[in-house]
Amino acid sequence: MDLFEYQAKELFAKHEVPTSAGRVTDTVAGAREIAEEIGKPVMIKAQVKVGGRGKAGGVKYSADVDAAEENAKAILGLDIKGHVVKKLLVAEAKDIAEEYYISFLLDRTNRTYLAMCSVEGGMEIEEVAATKPDRLARVAVDATKGVDVAFARSIAEQGHLPAEVLDAAAVTIAKLWEVFVKEDATLVEVNPLVRTPDDEILALDGKVTLDANADFRHADHAEFEDKDATDPLELKAKENDLNYVKLDGQVGIIGNGAGLVMSTLDVVAYAGEKHGGTKPANFLDIGGGASAEVMAAGLDVILGDEQVESVFVNVFGGITACDAVANGIKGALEKLGDEADKPLVVRLDGNKVDEGRAILKEYAHPLVTLAETMDEGADKAAALAAK
Ligand SMILES: Nc1ncnc2c1ncn2[C@@H]1O[C@H](COP(=O)(O)OP(=O)(O)OP(=O)(O)O)[C@@H](O)[C@H]1O
Ligand SMILES: [Mg+2]
Repeated sequence: MDLFEYQAKELFAKHEVPTSAGRVTDTVAGAREIAEEIGKPVMIKAQVKVGGRGKAGGVKYSADVDAAEENAKAILGLDIKGHVVKKLLVAEAKDIAEEYYISFLLDRTNRTYLAMCSVEGGMEIEEVAATKPDRLARVAVDATKGVDVAFARSIAEQGHLPAEVLDAAAVTIAKLWEVFVKEDATLVEVNPLVRTPDDEILALDGKVTLDANADFRHADHAEFEDKDATDPLELKAKENDLNYVKLDGQVGIIGNGAGLVMSTLDVVAYAGEKHGGTKPANFLDIGGGASAEVMAAGLDVILGDEQVESVFVNVFGGITACDAVANGIKGALEKLGDEADKPLVVRLDGNKVDEGRAILKEYAHPLVTLAETMDEGADKAAALAAK
């Protein structure tokens, strides 16, 4: 889960990472109130989960309360790369002498953790990596040893931070590592990490990604979920423990196993090229046990998508055999009754395929068409969606 900057800074505060005081609001009046409370110049900062907010006019210096109000008015509702600004962070504006870059992340290629640090902060780090690669240090972090203050100092040194601030930077960087470990993050990035005129080192921006696999250890992380942004169908799927991702097409997809579902998406998109450009409407993996309940929950979610014109059920019988899946489909259609109102193309293969097909043939539901192969099923479903 990616966090908003203000949420990242809540975690920073919890682990005593030095930053600038501030609060979040969703109204112009609220922004004015926080600016009054801070009683100093503030930054009004758009809270969207996309980079480059500053360049898009989403981060503005406000010398006084009136300016804060005016900037809040301008930034609320602003569209930044397709993300509409609904929340603002109002934070004390700090005097900046220099801007650096620091991040901790999971380095999958090398199966370790990685610290990246550079004296060239503030701008996009991709640009630094491309134009001045020698200014960007990449330092492997041994998970069993972690990052203590001495190692943090060495990271800062390798990033070419000036000698005068290495001690202060080391303390802040070690605390950011603590955020990374204690909060089970897969990314903690601060750009800019700022040097003030009196050589304090502050995290003025924050990007944190939390590892959802560790949610069970962090009851307090649930509140970070952005319910506004979650698609209502995805929410419903989640409540039913389904792995569902909404896409933009017209052919609803149900399959078992992530790999099979992924290739079904490809095959349907390919078949759709012959049928007016129809595309898959979703990813939905019902996993191993394709019971009537799971099938009904899956169909229910997919049929709740107004864009869906047909559904392709593509199941390979394994431990859950095809006859059980066929009974699942039957049970689901009975359960849903009139709510099932879109044609269903079903392709079954694998364990007990003959029994499964026989069940559906005998059931002879007017909405259900059987397909022998994945290609044939995809073609039929795409054609039905195009009608
Ligand atoms: N509290 C603050 N005080 C002073 N200047 C700030 C403060 N917060 C941000 N800035 C300035 O605004 C610039 C942009 O802010 P920030 O890094 O938060 O946004 P961004 O980099 O544009 O967005 P993103 O990180 O999403 O790409 C910073 O590089 C810094 O110069
Ligand atoms: Mg930034």
